[in-house]
Amino acid sequence: MFSIEVKKLRKEFGNFTAVNGISFNVKKGEIFGFLGANGAGKTTAIKMMCGILQPTSGDALIGGFSIANEPNKVKLNIGYMSQHFSLYNDLSVGENIDFFGGVYGLSRRELAKRKEWVLEIANLKNEQKILTGSLPGGIKQRLALGTAVIHKPQIVFLDEPTSGVDPISRRLFWELIQNLSSEGITVLVTTHYLEEAEYCNNIILIDAGDIIASGSSKEMKEKYLKNDILEIECENVIAGLEILEKQKFVEETSIFGNNIHISVNKYLEDFDQIYSIMENNKVKSINKIVPTLEDVFIHLLEQRRNVK
Ligand SMILES: Nc1ncnc2c1ncn2[C@@H]1O[C@H](COP(=O)(O)OP(=O)(O)OP(=O)(O)O)[C@@H](O)[C@H]1O
Ligand SMILES: [Mg+2]
Repeated sequence: MFSIEVKKLRKEFGNFTAVNGISFNVKKGEIFGFLGANGAGKTTAIKMMCGILQPTSGDALIGGFSIANEPNKVKLNIGYMSQHFSLYNDLSVGENIDFFGGVYGLSRRELAKRKEWVLEIANLKNEQKILTGSLPGGIKQRLALGTAVIHKPQIVFLDEPTSGVDPISRRLFWELIQNLSSEGITVLVTTHYLEEAEYCNNIILIDAGDIIASGSSKEMKEKYLKNDILEIECENVIAGLEILEKQKFVEETSIFGNNIHISVNKYLEDFDQIYSIMENNKVKSINKIVPTLEDVFIHLLEQRRNVK
């Protein structure tokens, strides 16, 4: 049973295609990651799945409701946290919670109960009089999530919920997402932070409106990276990169902090080959590494650019 079924979903703005007929399914209770660079089409796709933007063609079933034919039913049955949290800065914390409770038609008793819950997950117990605009980013983000799910939807869409907040707040926020998922709630979340994709059960990578990879993080590493990845620590990273890029045994290069990552093909016989070509640029170490998702994505995006 899928919570979300997306079928050839497409959105054109004039003659520009923002989402190019994408299809995928999300299981109940899954944390599903939507990854892609700026302008890839993530927000456009999410808005269509939430029933607030009409697709040019295609459809999606969200909890069984069609976004093309029953967008209002979709809206009532989901939670949506937009990219620029939808809280009112000039209202107090309590007023924001009351507002969202009202939008979703909660009874007074239900609202009182859910308000306590939202205040608790936002770490704002007994502080509902504070002006929302004065809250720190991490707290505001938790409050935004709480209000987005105040009506206990079974499916939640979070559009870059962790952008612009510190790493500790981000980690705490992911704990909240995992709690929702363990209660059987389906969470579709977009992020720029590739390390956050590791929290997701499944991921899709979109580029210019197309899905270019899908699967779990582990599957993606196995499926898309056939070559070994080496991490090279050398004295001068930029000079080292210039030398390596010219080698026949090097397929791709990227810089990771003070190190260089290269993906190598069959032309590399042993590491001595690398030590010798880098002679003037002292190599301190060469290690075969377990690829990160970033390695996978760089590989896929470079491949796509070369084809185009
Ligand atoms: N209403 C619109 N009219 C015209 N073009 C639009 C409109 N909305 C979005 N676009 C374009 O569609 C493309 C996809 O935008 P979208 O906001 O979906 O990307 P995104 O993946 O969410 O990016 P970001 O990571 O920056 O949030 C962009 O090129 C954007 O300029
Ligand atoms: Mg966006």
